[in-house]
Amino acid sequence: MSNKIRIRKAVFPVAGLGTRFLPATKANPKEMLTIVDKPLIQYAAEEAIAAGVEELIFVTSSSKRAIEDHFDKNYEMETELERKGKKQLLELVRNVVPKGVSCVYVRQPEALGLGHAVLCARPVVGNEPFAVILADDLIDGHETPCMAQMAAAFEYNRCSVLGVEEVPHEDTDKYGIVKSDPVTSELSRISSIVEKPKPAEAPTNLAVVGRYILTPRIFDLLEDIPKGAGGEIQLTDAIAALLQEEQVLAYKFHGERYDCGSKLGYLQATVEYALQHPELGQDFSRYLQERFGEDGGKIAHLFKRA
Ligand code: UTP
Repeated sequence: MSNKIRIRKAVFPVAGLGTRFLPATKANPKEMLTIVDKPLIQYAAEEAIAAGVEELIFVTSSSKRAIEDHFDKNYEMETELERKGKKQLLELVRNVVPKGVSCVYVRQPEALGLGHAVLCARPVVGNEPFAVILADDLIDGHETPCMAQMAAAFEYNRCSVLGVEEVPHEDTDKYGIVKSDPVTSELSRISSIVEKPKPAEAPTNLAVVGRYILTPRIFDLLEDIPKGAGGEIQLTDAIAALLQEEQVLAYKFHGERYDCGSKLGYLQATVEYALQHPELGQDFSRYLQERFGEDGGKIAHLFKRA
């Protein structure tokens, strides 16, 4: 591996079809679904930037134009906000991509799987370690965003790091599942990884969530692996091959994850982020109290910043 130890590039695979959210995702990308007032993809970009990433690489498809537009300059909007003296909103719009951060778009011509999507980013990533963030896994890392936690683990250990959490045993067939040997309370060394095992066959309930830091060797392995589960080129299969050559660590992140690729997870995230929202939280908790009476009272105390 090269001497560079900082993660400068993050890949956002956003070329999936998002069938679980149809009809909402027929013309709109799943990653543009909003949690309160921000699209999922912006939360993901902010998490990468907080980890020191300077280049955001989006692997898109033909129906994902809205993502490019979201991260592009909107002259008309900015001129109008400036004319009306709406400084705060102007800053909000301008800071979607802060200074010093650039965006690159790569096309995945066909939805051949997450592994294939990551491989499409190879010409832009080059020969350095990089992050992968799946925007539909929204993680509230509280004080330290999840990718910043993982970048610290990477900088210390200088090997691939996967974000993991324990999931209910009956859900193992929704995730890549790892078997690992503990190194610290948060880190463990992965000995095997398998994509979506049935609960009866799963070696553990430690699931990979949508956060990865990978060494560039993964690209060579992705070139060679055959189609796996669901007939797709699976990132998990390439990581299984990487394990044979390099150390790969599992990192139990601090924070709450919401599976916003599912409707239930999306609704849970909406409620939690609305309760924490600086302008909205108090009114929303009051609404819950009125709507649910006594039970709403229990919910209302969740609004911590009132
Ligand atoms: P999902 O498994 O969530 O698939 O992909 P999906 O198509 O987005 O959603 P459903 O299951 O049909 O509702 C995990 C991540 O990998 C990306 C997706 O955009 C998502 O961020 N992906 C998946 C690609 O970029 N390309 C692919 O070929 C497949």
